[in-house]
Amino acid sequence: MMIDVRSGGDAVLAVYHRLTKTGVDNPRLDARLLVAHVLEITPTQLFSYPETRLNAGQVEQLSSLVERRSQREPMARILGSREFWSLNFKVNESTLVPRPDSETLIEAVLARIEDRNAPLSILDLGTGSGCLLLALLSELKAATGLGVDMSEHALKTASGNAKTLGFADRARFQRSNWFENIDKKEMPFDIIISNPPYIPDDEITRLEPDVSKYDPYMALSGGSDGLDSYRKLIPKMSDSLTLDGVIAIEVGVNQALDVAGFGEAGALALEEICKDIAGLDRVLVFRLKPKLKLTKKTVGIYVIPD
Ligand SMILES: C[S@@+](CC[C@H](N)C(=O)[O-])C[C@H]1O[C@@H](n2cnc3c(N)ncnc32)[C@H](O)[C@@H]1O
Repeated sequence: MMIDVRSGGDAVLAVYHRLTKTGVDNPRLDARLLVAHVLEITPTQLFSYPETRLNAGQVEQLSSLVERRSQREPMARILGSREFWSLNFKVNESTLVPRPDSETLIEAVLARIEDRNAPLSILDLGTGSGCLLLALLSELKAATGLGVDMSEHALKTASGNAKTLGFADRARFQRSNWFENIDKKEMPFDIIISNPPYIPDDEITRLEPDVSKYDPYMALSGGSDGLDSYRKLIPKMSDSLTLDGVIAIEVGVNQALDVAGFGEAGALALEEICKDIAGLDRVLVFRLKPKLKLTKKTVGIYVIPD
């Protein structure tokens, strides 16, 4: 349906009315973002200069974008980018749209770093757009990171994001089925992070269409109970972590205790369950369990190192 408008202000109103009928969550905000996008100005500029005129091409482009949004295509996919940790990430059909909830993971890691200028190494398992790794690199000025994913296209996108954001010299991306192709020489890492796919398969089609139709299946599918990735990942993490390293891993609703159990059953000790902005258990922080070590001086006596 062609939208019949001349000014940006009229366009926002027309798009708002159109989107209200489609059940999107925030039609007013979406309308402002879409109109600003076709006018190539910021939403603030649009607010200050609502009389800015749209030419015929822009009206046509706006109509097509509104049609896509009406089909519940996510705004991030329509605009081609999403802000995460105040950084702008390109996203596409191969990447999960970064979620604000995942900023909990960044906060959990940063809270444990004493020296933000230390040359720390980071491993991001299932990097997608690279948002988690690159957000950490933006705060940890001398850190380097490896992001792995199964999707070549996602890896290209992450690599492009690293370049645009100025972290290309500190971030590397590689195709790997979790730990499979990671060179042992790169281990151990000081920080291991992951937001793996964790939606139970039979729940995917019941999610909002913005997610079920548009986020990549590989980024969502966690097997029959949603926990498959954790079962594969967690037992391998302890071998790849420095002695005082930290692991932060995102979980879905009601998964925290199961995932904590996977870690505790092996060499990991749960340090904290961090809640997201909605108050839900979202990120588990693990450390290595202290190892019982035999020293030369104390033959026959086991001591726990500091
Ligand atoms: C939930 S998304 C997270 C993406 C990104 N880290 C974020 O937080 O927005 C999970 C990611 O894991 C990747 N993935 C799925 N299975 C994988 C596997 N076996 N090995 C490596 N990555 C995998 C998906 O392609 C997807 O990019």
